[in-house]
Amino acid sequence: MLKIIKNHSLHKHNTFRIKVSAKFYAAPETLDELITILHKYRKPDQHLLIIGEGSNILLTNNFHGLVIHPDIKGIEILDKSSDNVIINVWAGENWDNFVVYCINNGFGGVENLSWIPGSVGACPIQNIGAYGAEVENVIESVTGILTDSLEQITFTRDKCNFGYRDSIFKQELRNRFIITNVVFRLSRNPVFNTTYGRLQSELAGIKKNDLQSIRQAVINIRKDKLPDPDKFGSAGSFFRNPVISKSKFNNLRSDYPDIPAYAENNQNVKIAAGWLIEKAGWAGKQAGDAGVYKKQALILLNHGSATGKQIKELAEKITISVNKKFGIDLQTEVNII
Ligand code: FAD
Ligand code: EPU
Repeated sequence: MLKIIKNHSLHKHNTFRIKVSAKFYAAPETLDELITILHKYRKPDQHLLIIGEGSNILLTNNFHGLVIHPDIKGIEILDKSSDNVIINVWAGENWDNFVVYCINNGFGGVENLSWIPGSVGACPIQNIGAYGAEVENVIESVTGILTDSLEQITFTRDKCNFGYRDSIFKQELRNRFIITNVVFRLSRNPVFNTTYGRLQSELAGIKKNDLQSIRQAVINIRKDKLPDPDKFGSAGSFFRNPVISKSKFNNLRSDYPDIPAYAENNQNVKIAAGWLIEKAGWAGKQAGDAGVYKKQALILLNHGSATGKQIKELAEKITISVNKKFGIDLQTEVNII
């Protein structure tokens, strides 16, 4: 039964565990319910916020509008050949449950993306990526509803403008388009992608090479690198890794020969923001309950009762100090609201 809840706490709806509330909150479980909410309860001057599992947002205030949590579930095989399988997944499915489903059925393509928090509906927004893989490589299309006209639109992969932690949904269509379902193409004859250095060494320890062991290797690395969500609030990497020109990189490298960097294309280099933040002296620092993770300085933490504003202030100080030391402007990955 569709309910619109008034003054709903968002504490359990964001992994930073910020204690704020939404003036109105609704969690539609069907497409019809979602359309009804937009049709009946959405007013043109009212702010709208879509929240999946809240693992990539920082809430800095009570939200004085309508929060919609798309909770439509379902995984359906649309087509199967000897090589591929085409699967439609609804937005409210948990991303990692879908990864487990794929691995259990021998469908390859998402195993490197194991253990990433969040919903399937949000995976295209920032084109989730890890350990040498990005979700755009397995997406066929993304379907959703425009919040103003209620028009349903399907974007094939080439129309999604996917980039590193980027897409059309994060840019022009931010909060104007509710993703309802994503269609994936997975391989029934998986070719394993184990180019990422640490993944190779972890797999060597497991001594097997199949979808399940890649998942296990990824989980081992993530458990080692990422903060325990039961102990700390976080949203993963707070900033994106900056992409800079080769000439700027060569200047930096002459001062800092050990700076970790990866060729992005012929002209540009991606450098590790975590390294920059650590070298600027921030690893393990804390201001009240807002902090920087000691083992991975790209991750900001809520040690208990930090407010969103305190975390944002800490992020701003880090940005200024990294700019001062390296002349590089960090961009946030997390959506600040
Ligand atoms: P939310 O945080 O709820 O929303 C994120 C953004 O998408 C918001 O702007 C929201 O408005 C919008 N949105 C959400 N759902 C919809 C929808 N259905 N339609 C339209 N807009 C929507 N990310 C990576 O890429 N790689 C990683 O390795 C990684 N590791 C992480 C580790 C940790 C410990 C944490 C906490 C986060 C990590 N993340 C990582 C970030 C996060 O997991 C992803 O960004 C994820 O896709 C967010 O999903 P969500 O459902 O929680 O989205
Ligand atoms: N590093 C440091 N100090 C730090 C952190 C990192 O020196 O405090 C160095 C590491 O030693 C390594 C390099 O920086 O040489 C890269 O670190 P890591 O492998 O941990 O990856 P990352 O670039 O920090 C990115 C993604 C993660 C993703 C991992 C694995 C971004 C913004 N982050 O992190 O995604 O899981 O690679 O592929 O691209 C997320 O987006 O939320 C996220 C966690």
